[in-house]
Amino acid sequence: MKSRDKIKKASLLMMLLIANLGLMAQDSAATVVATAPAAVTSAPVAVASAPEISVPIYEQMGISSTMLFIIMNVFTFVLLAVMMSMASSTKNILKFKDEERKKSSMPKMILALVGLFASSSLMAAEPAAEGGSLIGFPNSVFWAYIMVDVVLIMFIIYFAGIVKGTVADEIEQRSLFRWRKLNQALTNAVPIENEASILIDHDYDGITELDNQLPPWWKYGFYVTIVWGIGYLFYYQVFEIGNLQEAEYLAEMAAGDLQEAEYKKAHPELITAETAELLTDASSIAAGKTTFDTYCVSCHMEGGRGGVGPNLTDKHWIYDNDIKGVFTTISEGAKNGMTAWKALLPADQIQEVASYVLQLEYVAPPEGKIPQGTEK
Ligand code: HEC
Repeated sequence: MKSRDKIKKASLLMMLLIANLGLMAQDSAATVVATAPAAVTSAPVAVASAPEISVPIYEQMGISSTMLFIIMNVFTFVLLAVMMSMASSTKNILKFKDEERKKSSMPKMILALVGLFASSSLMAAEPAAEGGSLIGFPNSVFWAYIMVDVVLIMFIIYFAGIVKGTVADEIEQRSLFRWRKLNQALTNAVPIENEASILIDHDYDGITELDNQLPPWWKYGFYVTIVWGIGYLFYYQVFEIGNLQEAEYLAEMAAGDLQEAEYKKAHPELITAETAELLTDASSIAAGKTTFDTYCVSCHMEGGRGGVGPNLTDKHWIYDNDIKGVFTTISEGAKNGMTAWKALLPADQIQEVASYVLQLEYVAPPEGKIPQGTEK
């Protein structure tokens, strides 16, 4: 009877303390808000008092004061809940009589606490939502919370001692029993007492042998591999649903190529005369033609048959006629009258138009311009 009342009183005291702490934190929030503008206007005062203010704990932790407020509340509440449940189990162990009253008062207390914490946390969250955290949470409140928590932990240790002392033996026996049962289920071993029943009938220099069953976990594991193996065989070899090594390799390489192409597309600046490639896909050629018809046709004429600029369809070339050479000529320009197109066209577009040029159909003179350069 007596100690039950004590526990109840202690719990109530704790609740009051914690409730007070919550209020303190919110009160100081108001103070912070109120004093903040004053500190700004009266600079000398602020400077004078600045050294006295220690860095708030929550700043040291790198979280907002609201966050610390919530964390401390939750932590304290959990401790309180643990403490109370331990208190009630202690009571059960010590076999208190009027269990009815105790049972009805505990949940009520917990409910009241939940309500308290929820409301104070909500209050804390509300101003924070308007921007900036307005819960002050000065260090003193933090240390007060820590003190309460320490007291709670001491209570828990105290109750744990009582619980342990009374039920330790029982718990030990139970867990030993459970462990034995589990071990038996896993190994299916014949107990030492009955070992004679599985003793094999031979003896080598005093060394005998037991005919134990294979442990079930091993046996069933083995069956699983058989089932798995059959499934594997049908999946890969019979129905050929899954890719074998080589096909998988090729698929991955194709996926890699696709990735590479996408990356290159996203980074046209990576294309240089060194890395330029002859494009053959229809869309690139079409894009090249568009560029050609926009910028080049005035000098190289329709289809590249030549005008002011040379015929681009014949086998004669003034400069190199591989993709790197053509890319370079277009990009850097040519001395007898062609500008350096890199100033106007991005590298990927030059690559396209160079590829377009290299696949042009031959237009013979007289429609085409007479050959210039050497035959290549
Ligand atoms: C202002 C006229 C002019 C325009 C526009 C022009 N070119 Fe040229 N292009 C020339 C001349 C002139 C030459 C020959 C330069 C030389 O002999 O040094 C030439 C040379 C070339 C060559 C080298 C041919 C060879 O035989 O080696 C290529 C390739 C070429 N141009 C592609 C293009 C492309 C692609 C464009 C459009 C982006 C273009 N040109 C726009 C005038 C032009």
